[in-house]
Amino acid sequence: MEPEQPGFRPLEFERYAPDVMQRRAQHLLTDVQRRRSVREFSAEPLPQGVLDDCIRLAGTAPSGAHKQPWTFVVVSDPALKRAIREAAEEEERANYSGRMNPAWLKDLAPLGTDAHKPFLEVAPALIVAFRHAWQVGPNGQREQCYYTQESIGIACGFLLLALHHCGLATLTHTPSPMAFLSKLLGRPENEKPFLLIPVGFPAGDCQVPNLERKPLDSIRFLANPPGPKP
Ligand SMILES: Cc1cc2nc3c(=O)[nH]c(=O)nc-3n(C[C@H](O)[C@H](O)[C@H](O)COP(=O)(O)O)c2cc1C
Repeated sequence: MEPEQPGFRPLEFERYAPDVMQRRAQHLLTDVQRRRSVREFSAEPLPQGVLDDCIRLAGTAPSGAHKQPWTFVVVSDPALKRAIREAAEEEERANYSGRMNPAWLKDLAPLGTDAHKPFLEVAPALIVAFRHAWQVGPNGQREQCYYTQESIGIACGFLLLALHHCGLATLTHTPSPMAFLSKLLGRPENEKPFLLIPVGFPAGDCQVPNLERKPLDSIRFLANPPGPKP
């Protein structure tokens, strides 16, 4: 593509030697392998500015037609965190005592979770990711967004990775239905609550479930062209 084409600019791209690529991949893998969902937080405050940079990083995610269909609401006010905890626990009591079927409860048992969510008050910050089902144009008209679930899912993945990378613990939390978050945080009708992410430092005696991750051979399949096998 010609560099002078209007609306375009040259790509900024850094090319690495193969050994450097391998080292970078392994370095990132080693770091990311240590990410765990944390359900016991300390109340220690967060360093200034880190959340903003992580949210900026989330905002670099690709999105359908570049609509960037996301809002990340940061909650650190104790009264608001308490209100979110109370509403979340109400939904979770209904979930654990009937809305989740026996198979679901059985799958959750190894995680040791229940309807109590003290971390929603203890963690110094909650980030609530809202998905834009549509957007509002300059004249108040409704504008379409595309692949919004995929887009915000990727952005939240970036966010979780960024928070972990800079030394913070997170939980990916879904106390569903989550309409209470729209109400408590005063979000507009087009924004749908997607994830509730407590962020902070883990409690000193924090424990996590002893889970195994699927090995490469069971998540990666090397595709062969169709046709008879040799
Ligand atoms: C979409 C999604 C929703 C989740 N919702 C909850 C939740 O509501 N409560 C919770 O304790 N963990 C929740 N988790 C965390 C998972 O239980 C956790 O990722 C899984 O057990 C693997 O553990 P790890 O994150 O430590 O690798 C959720 C994870 C995802 C991706």
